[in-house]
Amino acid sequence: MTILVTGGAGFIGSNFVLDWLAQIDEPVVNLDALTYAGNPENLASLEGDARHIFVKGDICDRALVDSLLAAHQPRAIVHFAAESHVDRSISGPGAFMRTNVEGTFTLLEAARAYWSALEGDAKAGFRFHHVSTDEVYGSLKADDPPFAETNPYEPNSPYSASKAASDHLVRAWHHTYGLPVVTTNCSNNYGPYHFPEKLIPLMIVNALAGKPLPVYGDGQQIRDWLYVTDHCSGIRAVLAGGRLGETYNIGGWNEQANIDIVKIVCALLDELRPDPAGKYERLITYVKDRPGHDRRYAIDARKIERELGWRPAETFQTGIRKTVQWYLDHPDWVARVQSGAYRDWISQQYTAA
Ligand code: NAD
Ligand code: TYD
Repeated sequence: MTILVTGGAGFIGSNFVLDWLAQIDEPVVNLDALTYAGNPENLASLEGDARHIFVKGDICDRALVDSLLAAHQPRAIVHFAAESHVDRSISGPGAFMRTNVEGTFTLLEAARAYWSALEGDAKAGFRFHHVSTDEVYGSLKADDPPFAETNPYEPNSPYSASKAASDHLVRAWHHTYGLPVVTTNCSNNYGPYHFPEKLIPLMIVNALAGKPLPVYGDGQQIRDWLYVTDHCSGIRAVLAGGRLGETYNIGGWNEQANIDIVKIVCALLDELRPDPAGKYERLITYVKDRPGHDRRYAIDARKIERELGWRPAETFQTGIRKTVQWYLDHPDWVARVQSGAYRDWISQQYTAA
């Protein structure tokens, strides 16, 4: 048996592939276009491991997706590939519509053709797992209850609108064609291999470089942070036991204001890598707010717990400490991402093929 993962060289996808192969002896075909966010160095520990088959390619390429499905006959598709950064979606929404909407459409159509031709157990057991975000639900007020699966969709950014569109396509392919789908909507992740354009890794790498720590607006926006390997275990639980056509919210029961996150990161760095110039908090700089900035996200994760027994293994205290330590232990990864050197490696490695 084999699974097809899309976007498995990105932050969550690479953690998922590493975790999967550490726990389950089932091969992974990893289809990733290696955009700026895709970094095959995340998967360096799998070099020579025959259970990992990496394919550089675009999910919008129907012929390629068809040929991978035909060649590898996966029992499931786990779909991570996306443009994922809200700020980039504001300055350039086109790529988000293409990958997140058109790409998901292409995958669904390829999956439908493949699944329709399956028979017996192979057909009954096939799954299309769509990995989505809590941002599709919009923004909560301070005293609103957290997002449940029944909340209406109210996306506010080009990113969340494109993810909402993809969720709707997945839902429709189930209702109209019977495609066996499950969808997970997860809160903000953090952990190893997180590209340093997102809040937590950006704060760590900027602090270590003595650069300003840019906090948008008043820093009081709230996110519900989940350690990335807990997201991966949630996906495995839903893939294995989620009810067809259902969505499951995944979150860490861990709401924190951005400014508090930044201060926690600073305090950990003060402890683990003290700066002779002074406390890292001195670098905090309030900057212009993000347009349309969602005020609060929070996940009600009771459905996945009730139905599948999933709960996060990490607390924020344990997860953030591991994360800061990982960045301290991997200065070469950070340097190569920041200098763009990993992209030279990609062009050397993949353009000749
Ligand atoms: P990421 O930006 O780190 O990685 C995305 C990956 O997709 C990259 O490896 C990139 O090369 C690949 N990709 C992009 N366009 C592609 C295309 N057209 N064809 C093939 N591959 C392509 O993203 P992430 O943070 O790992 O997020 C993964 C998924 O999880 C996304 O669907 C995102 O919406 C969702 N999600 C993310 C978070 C979070 O906090 N990061 C939270 C909830 C859900
Ligand atoms: P981000 O990591 O981009 O995730 P998302 O926008 O998907 O939630 O941002 C997390 C929060 O941190 C969000 O409220 C925006 C804020 N933020 C900053 O204050 N400064 C920054 O430099 C970045 C990148 C984000």
